[in-house]
Amino acid sequence: MSAHGRDKGRWGNRFGFILAATGSAVGLGNIWRFPYLVGKNGGAVFLLVYLLIVFFVGLPILLAELSVGRAARKAPVAIFRALRAHPAWSAIGWLGTITGGFLILSYYNVIGGWTIRYVIASMGSLMDAASTAAGSAAFFGAFVGNSGHVVFYQILFMGIVMLIVSGGIEKGIERACKVMMPLLFGILLLLILRSATLPNVWAGFEFYLKPDWSRLSDPGLYLDALGQAFYSLSLGLGIMLTYGSYIGKDERIPSAGVWTAGLDTLVAFLAGLAIVPAVFVMGFKPDAGPSLTFITLPAVFARTPAGMYVSFAFFLFLFFAAVTSAISLFEVAVAFAVERFGLRRPAAIGLMGLIVLLLGGYSALSLSGQPKIEFFGKSKDFLDAMDYLGNDILLPSGAFLLSIFVGWVWLPQALGELTNGGTLAFVWEKAWIWSIRFIAPLAIALIFINSLLW
Ligand code: PHE
Repeated sequence: MSAHGRDKGRWGNRFGFILAATGSAVGLGNIWRFPYLVGKNGGAVFLLVYLLIVFFVGLPILLAELSVGRAARKAPVAIFRALRAHPAWSAIGWLGTITGGFLILSYYNVIGGWTIRYVIASMGSLMDAASTAAGSAAFFGAFVGNSGHVVFYQILFMGIVMLIVSGGIEKGIERACKVMMPLLFGILLLLILRSATLPNVWAGFEFYLKPDWSRLSDPGLYLDALGQAFYSLSLGLGIMLTYGSYIGKDERIPSAGVWTAGLDTLVAFLAGLAIVPAVFVMGFKPDAGPSLTFITLPAVFARTPAGMYVSFAFFLFLFFAAVTSAISLFEVAVAFAVERFGLRRPAAIGLMGLIVLLLGGYSALSLSGQPKIEFFGKSKDFLDAMDYLGNDILLPSGAFLLSIFVGWVWLPQALGELTNGGTLAFVWEKAWIWSIRFIAPLAIALIFINSLLW
């Protein structure tokens, strides 16, 4: 067996794979973006549309990525050569590797570092500082403005990611997800319980979920749901291609995909239940992004009985979500270096880790008052620019090309993978074919055009 062959890992079992894929999917997007989108787009109405989109657009692409990955058993860049596809298709692998393994990860680990800081601060000065909203904003500002601190926590976070990935597929990634994901679910349930027992909380639940059917006529709702579905399922970045390459030949890809998509959606919905009603009842606005998570929520916790513990639990939950997503991004970069440069895993981990940290260092420092850069006609700081380039431009491009490749070039082979060579019944085969050929590429083209114009 070659050195590469020995380096190629596998998931220990189906449950391990599902937890690892769910670990990748459940991330910051579920916690700070999804709840906000529900509130913004008419409550339960958005939930319904989102569910339909996850199952008719997101899931089909997820299955396609897993199938391509398993068939080739390679990292994304080499996949298309292994499948004897035209070399131009390798662009999908390059796009995914650069976007996921480098661009997105470079800022994801900065935010991951923030979560560690907040886990620790929850037990220290955070609750005092956050007793007013302005105090909470000042605490956050002082922290991100201190480059030394931010970089320290970024390195700590990335060090944890590198440590986990160096354990390999089964003993590293899978084992970490088997511990962290059940803990994440447990903490989430406790947080919901806490928020459901706050006074007047029903008004908050109503705010979160009350359907506003008139929103159905707003095209923005569908675009939000589509974009969120891709991001949340970690599609288009080579991640599910890479994770697919570690699935055993006898596993059932369709059911593993349904579990992953289902659990990811469930966590997003429950995170909303834990967060939005409490924010609403305390008189704050459930805005999206870092400000909700790192400024509004600490102020909410500071007014909640046992707030210190709630805050600690919440940021630990966020930390687990961020780590299990970051390891999936990092694994793409590592698998690439192993295959492309023939490095052994430890060397690949060291080298790629260093590159990611250097790139991320720039994002980290961009928060302490660097000049903004002009980016596609918009003025952004470096962290936002990476986020925009990664999520709004490169991610949909990769997913679009992949759906065309699988739908129009590689369909019979994909069906072979999904049915394990015809030995498994694949009940929604027709719906899947329709989606991967027509619905998915069209939907992605729409999101893409929208994000360029917007
Ligand atoms: N799926 C993750 C989330 O919802 C985000 C993510 C995207 C993570 C891509 C890794 C890779 O937050």
